[in-house]
Amino acid sequence: MKNIPVPTFTTERLILKAVTEADIPAYTKYFVDYEIIGNLVSSVPWPYPENGVEEYVKTVIIPKQGNGRWTWGIFLKDNLNELIGMIEMWVEGKPEHRGFWLGRPFWGQGIMTEATIPVTDFAFDELNFKTIRFNNALGNERSRRIKEKAGAKLLYIEPEEFNNPQFTEVEVWELTAANWHKFGNKA
Ligand SMILES: CC(C)(COP(=O)(O)OP(=O)(O)OC[C@H]1O[C@@H](n2cnc3c(N)ncnc32)[C@H](O)[C@@H]1OP(=O)(O)O)[C@@H](O)C(=O)NCCC(=O)NCCS
Repeated sequence: MKNIPVPTFTTERLILKAVTEADIPAYTKYFVDYEIIGNLVSSVPWPYPENGVEEYVKTVIIPKQGNGRWTWGIFLKDNLNELIGMIEMWVEGKPEHRGFWLGRPFWGQGIMTEATIPVTDFAFDELNFKTIRFNNALGNERSRRIKEKAGAKLLYIEPEEFNNPQFTEVEVWELTAANWHKFGNKA
């Protein structure tokens, strides 16, 4: 696939733009939180290393931008200096194709649902995904709701290790373009 640069998206409350090195302090402030990292698979280290975000941004996010992987920082329109979360898509299914997190002070306001809309449109319309797979820990109800509302269907559940040991299984979901356009592309 040819390189497709990370577009900037504007929604009602948000700007989504490519993560840069300038975002490392805010990324660290909001991401290094057990309430976030506990929900992630145990290949994400916990305790989180001191310069882990800097290394991840410099060696994974930036080099791959637009090249099989697209990573957006989430910003409130009235504070474009502070990244409050992240959403990313990648082509090669692990089996999932998307990851996201949002700083805890911003939960429960529909922000991630709003952020998923332009990103999912981009995946179907520009990246030509036929179906998109998502996953979440069985028990991560917030993340699950975002998939359900989008029109995704639960495919299977299997054992998985998460940083929070209370989570022992992963739910794997699939979203078709038809279901997205029917149910999902509205906040
Ligand atoms: C998952 C996450 C991104 C959600 O962000 P958010 O902006 O708060 O999500 P939204 O407000 O758009 O939607 C959350 C949905 O969960 C529902 N919800 C909130 N708290 C809930 C709870 N305790 N139990 C069940 N549902 C809950 C909300 O009501 C909403 O659904 P609704 O629109 O039907 O009301 C955020 O909680 C997060 O970063 N969590 C930690 C990292 C993580 O889990 N990442 C995903 C890994 S798969």
